[in-house]
Amino acid sequence: MSRAAPVAAPPVEAADFKAAMRALAASVTVITSRRGDQLNGMTATAVCSVSTAPPQILAVVNRETTSHGLIADTGAFAVNILAAHQQDLAGRFARRLDQPFEGVAHGWGETGCPLLAEAVAVIECRLRERHHAGTHTIFVGEVVGVSCRGAEPLLYFDGGYRRLAASGGAVV
Ligand SMILES: Cc1cc2nc3c(=O)[nH]c(=O)nc-3n(C[C@H](O)[C@H](O)[C@H](O)COP(=O)(O)O)c2cc1C
Repeated sequence: MSRAAPVAAPPVEAADFKAAMRALAASVTVITSRRGDQLNGMTATAVCSVSTAPPQILAVVNRETTSHGLIADTGAFAVNILAAHQQDLAGRFARRLDQPFEGVAHGWGETGCPLLAEAVAVIECRLRERHHAGTHTIFVGEVVGVSCRGAEPLLYFDGGYRRLAASGGAVV
């Protein structure tokens, strides 16, 4: 008689994991992509620098998103770091929309991706590596263009959008 394989207990409870991750403050970005006439953007906090030589960043993207297909197919994406006054765009690009850029001020990058006007910084990338990780793919992009405005960034912390404290400054 065969026995069912024992189901391994998860090493941590999902609720505990989520509670811990709520403590990770992050800048809010919109990752933009384009395939022909199809433009897309998705709000994302799972973005970080990888190396400076060569300049590379990574973005962690759910495979069920529209953006995932566009980035995987075209090999290009742009990370737009939102300014504090752009919270409406963070909400907008966290949903699927038929016309995501209708009424949204934007220009065009050298890879053809839309670039959001008034973003604190924009980082244009060509896809170099992809790694499967659970429900997501880690896209590693080589940076082919940057622009920086130096404005105050929009933050996400403890489940909500935040701004830097007015009294904030360097800790010495
Ligand atoms: C604050 C915030 C951060 C998010 N970060 C990510 C992320 O890093 N990666 C991801 O795949 N989805 C993330 N999402 C969810 C996507 O924005 C959401 O699934 C979006 O609808 C995907 O758009 P698309 O299907 O048009 O590509 C985040 C949502 C919010 C509100």
